Amino acid sequence: MLVEATAPGKMILYGEHSVVYRGPAVVLAIDRRANVYAKKRTDKKIFIDADNLGFSGYFEDNVYHAVRGNAWRGRNLAALNVSAKKTMEYLGVEGGVNLKVRSMIPIAVGLGSSAAICVATVSAVEKLHEGGLKKEEISNVAFEGETIIHGKPSGVDNNVSTFGGVMSYERDVGFKHHKLTKEIPFIIGNTRKKRSTKRMVENVAALKERNPAIMDNFIDAMGNVAREGLDALLKIDLSRMGDLMDLNHGLLSGIGVSTMKLEILCHTARKNGALGAKLTGAGGGGCMIALSEEVYMSDIERAIRRRKSDAYRVSLTDQGVKSRWIEDDEIADS
Ligand code: MEV
Repeated sequence: MLVEATAPGKMILYGEHSVVYRGPAVVLAIDRRANVYAKKRTDKKIFIDADNLGFSGYFEDNVYHAVRGNAWRGRNLAALNVSAKKTMEYLGVEGGVNLKVRSMIPIAVGLGSSAAICVATVSAVEKLHEGGLKKEEISNVAFEGETIIHGKPSGVDNNVSTFGGVMSYERDVGFKHHKLTKEIPFIIGNTRKKRSTKRMVENVAALKERNPAIMDNFIDAMGNVAREGLDALLKIDLSRMGDLMDLNHGLLSGIGVSTMKLEILCHTARKNGALGAKLTGAGGGGCMIALSEEVYMSDIERAIRRRKSDAYRVSLTDQGVKSRWIEDDEIADS
């Protein structure tokens, strides 16, 4: 028997970067998930099999030994090791574990893949030891893994991946869960350019250091957009949501986290009928999102693909992290 844990990716609808300082940000769990399978080992190695990401290997005393393929972005690997170890430490148990990672969330493009993998790892390892952790505890332990990758993350990614649904987060207020009365599908446009969230956050911090007063205005403006955006989202006021996405994108361009390709994709989406479009996540490449009425959705997807980018529709999901015991042969692609 082994444990399967699954956790969703996310998209930030409003408030990335400003949430690192104050917020709020409005974050939505999406129906693309990361699965982690865990099995106990008799030694203390943390073995990670992520063949569909191009590598497998193990950590012994926090040193990585490659078995197959190139090491997948060093910090991401270390984050899995830390997530597994911190979980055992938290539970007061010792041991090794085989982790198999299968993710449908594209990596390093702003859709929360690393948080989802950390959350699923914590959940799988705690279930393996029948730890009975609450969701909040899973999210907090996963945050320690996330910190390895992102430096000083705001915590929105691991929280929304753990709890699912729609969340807002503001520094002095904390997390709030929200319920939507209607499904809203979005289009994601992926520039296919991977980038580091840590580096993008550092770039913004440096710009803020050089221009503190102006940057404060930008951060406040993004916070106001996110506050109004949340109101529009909860009222399912699509045209106001679209305006606020465009405004948020303009502010993100202003603080230097957009790219030529992201600009092109946002303009392409708007020109083809989108009510609004913006980059999502840390920027510097990665993904943009577009909101549209159903009638224009296929046109927008096709137009984005013509720009040598991926385009897909995503639905939101209320399903946060889940884990269960399964038989060894139940892993789809093992
Ligand atoms: C997170 O996906 C994007 C940023 O807001 C950083 C963070 O919240 O930790 C840029």
